[in-house]
Amino acid sequence: SPRVFSGIQPSGNLTLGNYLGALRRFVESQERGVESIYCVVDLHAITVWQDPEKLRRTIRELAAAFIASGIDPERSVLFNQSQVSAHAELSWILSCVARLGWMNRMTQFKDKTQGKNAENESLGLYAYPALMAADILAYHTTHVPVGEDQKQHVELTRDIAAKFNHDYGVDFFPMPAPVIEGTATRVMSLRDGTKKMSKSDPSDQSRINLTDDADTIAAKIRKARTDPEPLPETWDELSERPEARNLVNIYAALSGEAREVVMERFAGQAFSVFKPALAEVTVASLAPISSRMRELLADPTEIDRILGRGAERAAEISLPILAKAKEIVGFVRSR
Ligand code: TYM
Repeated sequence: SPRVFSGIQPSGNLTLGNYLGALRRFVESQERGVESIYCVVDLHAITVWQDPEKLRRTIRELAAAFIASGIDPERSVLFNQSQVSAHAELSWILSCVARLGWMNRMTQFKDKTQGKNAENESLGLYAYPALMAADILAYHTTHVPVGEDQKQHVELTRDIAAKFNHDYGVDFFPMPAPVIEGTATRVMSLRDGTKKMSKSDPSDQSRINLTDDADTIAAKIRKARTDPEPLPETWDELSERPEARNLVNIYAALSGEAREVVMERFAGQAFSVFKPALAEVTVASLAPISSRMRELLADPTEIDRILGRGAERAAEISLPILAKAKEIVGFVRSR
């Protein structure tokens, strides 16, 4: 039977990209009634140093964002990765299955270390995709909803699963499928239409954060980079205009309208008309989420309770799968 798993790193600002490319789609899968498991991947976050006080805050903030976006902790499993030992343990076994050559091809590691001395990065950052494979495979996951930037990691997970099955002559791990659907699987930076919107971009102007207030959102959109031309009549005519394309795409994703419908409405209009309209739909979508987040964060005991219960349920599923993997590998169970 289908089982969805996905994760988000608690490494700072959650962006509109995380919302449209991940959170909102997680809620859709929950609403379709598919068994869904969502993880605050704190082990992944420390692949680059995090201030412990701040990490505690961002873990709870991310949990609050899941709930505020519509994840119901009764229907979906919501937990933090470090509290379920199957992730780290299976990650080691899978690290021994994955090949160095495969890891060397991961574009995210290359992007993250571009212009820096990779020798000074943590071993964890390099091994990161093996931990992500463990996240997915520890639940015998069939579907992994992610944004486009995570596709290569899910494909690597399939390679690792296939090699494990082959090397041990078993049919143990099912092949997980990346699910990259919808119109906003790659939301771009507001400063550069060829770069993805990212929580780690040094410029806060490049992204809309889930916690930005209405004035900040309006100001960021007003200052978003565009070209001087008014909007054309059709979506196709935007093919060479990445910034304009991105803004129209965000509008369509947030309003739930087809891109062509949005194009028709704003055909011939200047950005001075389109941008305030975009700010309005953005604020209308995000304001209820950020206000619910604030409510939840006012008393973190409820969030901690939800994560604790989620971790118990996650362990119930993953620990037997981990135990079986250990047995397949040839470990002797002594307790
Ligand atoms: P992370 O934390 O960078 O991003 C979380 C999710 O948000 C998506 N996303 C975007 N989607 C559209 N446009 C954007 N600009 C944008 N930016 C981010 C990401 O694709 C992702 O779906 N390695 C993962 C976390 C992870 C994971 C997993 C995911 C760990 N284990 C297992 C799935 C399954 C990451 O760093 O995502």
